[in-house]
Amino acid sequence: MTEDLSFDLTLFPAPVLRKVAEPVEAFDEDVARTVEAMFELMFKSKGVGLAAPQVGLKRRILVLNETGEQDKPEQNLVLINPTILATSGPRKPFEEGCLSFPGIYAEVQRPECCKVEAHDVHGERFEADYDGFTSRIIQHEHDHLEGVLLVDRMSPVDKLRNRGALEELVDVYKASKV
Ligand code: CO
Repeated sequence: MTEDLSFDLTLFPAPVLRKVAEPVEAFDEDVARTVEAMFELMFKSKGVGLAAPQVGLKRRILVLNETGEQDKPEQNLVLINPTILATSGPRKPFEEGCLSFPGIYAEVQRPECCKVEAHDVHGERFEADYDGFTSRIIQHEHDHLEGVLLVDRMSPVDKLRNRGALEELVDVYKASKV
């Protein structure tokens, strides 16, 4: 009998958010439990996507559900060791949030569609095309695996507008380390 995992959100500017995450090599019970606990935290936090670095793990695991609704598990998507093979379509602006930046939103331009190769939780390799909100979430979450954050994608104007909130996150982080 294994215990259920439970995670807390890792907030900016925790250093793990800046690390390049490492590929998953064994698709074992540990990965399955990690995925389950990530979904649990994502839904609890009212998010639509979550990357492993956001729970303090340097692993290439993403979970998402564009509805954000736990009772729509058929919309759950797990991408392990994902590669964005190609993007296409016009770049579109959209106001993005991030669970690691509570209360902060910024307009980010991203291409509309993406073609992705990944493994599912059982290690099965698949390739799929995504568009709309799902494509947006995948591109945002994939950034996390490379240590790229919402703050890096912000326009100078959005950075200025969010400066107070960003400084507050830094202060909270520093206080937690004392
Ligand atoms: Co994020």
